[in-house]
Amino acid sequence: MFGKKHNLIFLMLFGGMALNAEVAFSTDVWPILERRCVTCHRPGEIAPMPLTSYAQVRPWANAIREAVLTRKMPPWDAAGETAHDFRNDRSLTETEIRIISTWVKEGAQEGQPLKTAFQLTSVENHWKLGKPDIVIRVPGFHVPASGLLTYRYLITPDLFPKDVWVRAAEFRIDQRTVVHHINAYARGPDSSYLARYPKGEIVTATIADRGRRREGERVFDRRLQLIGWEPGYRPMPWLPNGAKQIRAGSDIVFEMHYSPNGKEVTDYSELGIYLADTAPSERVLAIDTLRDLDLAIPAGAPDYVSRASMTLAQPVRLVSVQPHMHRRGKGMEVRAVYPNGRTRLLVSVPKYDFNWQTTYVLREPLLLPAGTRLESVAHFDNSVNNPSNPDPSVPVSWGDMTTDEMHIAFLELAMPVEADPEKLFAAPPRMIGTPAGKN
Ligand code: HEC
Repeated sequence: MFGKKHNLIFLMLFGGMALNAEVAFSTDVWPILERRCVTCHRPGEIAPMPLTSYAQVRPWANAIREAVLTRKMPPWDAAGETAHDFRNDRSLTETEIRIISTWVKEGAQEGQPLKTAFQLTSVENHWKLGKPDIVIRVPGFHVPASGLLTYRYLITPDLFPKDVWVRAAEFRIDQRTVVHHINAYARGPDSSYLARYPKGEIVTATIADRGRRREGERVFDRRLQLIGWEPGYRPMPWLPNGAKQIRAGSDIVFEMHYSPNGKEVTDYSELGIYLADTAPSERVLAIDTLRDLDLAIPAGAPDYVSRASMTLAQPVRLVSVQPHMHRRGKGMEVRAVYPNGRTRLLVSVPKYDFNWQTTYVLREPLLLPAGTRLESVAHFDNSVNNPSNPDPSVPVSWGDMTTDEMHIAFLELAMPVEADPEKLFAAPPRMIGTPAGKN
């Protein structure tokens, strides 16, 4: 067996190696964990164990080495040529992986104890983007210890006497272990979206009611997604000079999906809204219309392919992409086909994981000229070989329970503020609940 000394001599003799023998927790490994892991691995967050001190990390050293070498951790599913094109990239660099792996191999030494211990309160009790201008709080939703919950909705009474521009929004999630996702929408003053439902209380709504829409209603007058929260989401302003508009008389609608987790809890999550002082140069929009409402996955099908496309009638800049499927989702690719026929891959998620509904935020928004066709291709595994498949013996179609399926590539787009957002679509998008060929 080589002792420490021998290792040192060995490394000195073969001096070309990138790392010294003395890789220590405090000096080398902790800075990586602090940057890349503790957002989830700390008390109250979604990861099962905190990794905020040497004592907490040490028993996990071998598991950590394995998790980072296989890139299971941090969770980040984009791959191929798009893998590192995103502003919110969580993945480790090769150097970070090498440091962690070497540290474990050498016995996971602490080194000098950390000078300043991790302070939970310093990050936990504050909004990440600073004090919001408007805060909306879920008025206590009781989540039972077990069972399946359908989506819940909360429509807030009118908060907006005049038009405002929102430069960022942030969810502060209260009960992280049970919140599967929460979306917040701005609903225009005469919107048909959930039109008959009461305000100020938490309600359920049928899929038919949610899809009900007035003929000829403008897409973004009906609703505009402000922000979606899912585990691992990091809040950030969309663009330095871009904002989403909330029109006078709008409400905010929360769509909340809770997954009971063994313990009864009451959730008081909050939405923070940050206003821009002046009108921005770009209007940011969110759309959910790059989707395949007609997917029909046969029972047992190991690789069902579903395709969706839409054409842009206006030039836009692409801000983010979020592939969305449920438990049979296996992989998705989203690409742009430019008017000149050239194709560009926007995101590729070859091994989709339902537990990580990542929004991929482009490092630099990408210009998509008018006439660009957006395409997404989704693969589903409805076979017995898919461990998260709830039931391989049934055919599956569109629906919002996780036992149904979806294929949506959510997109955030920016366009010059003076352009009409409704002119974005080359053909009016088909709405949920309408037969093929109708809008
Ligand atoms: C976005 C949230 C998130 C981040 C960031 C994250 N983890 Fe995790 N981690 C989880 C969750 C949730 C689990 C438990 C479920 C699972 O295994 O997927 C987990 C599980 C683990 C496990 C147990 C693995 C296993 O095979 O069961 C290890 C080890 C781990 N994480 C290490 C790390 C390290 C090291 C980092 C940083 C380099 C990191 N994680 C970053 C959320 C995260």
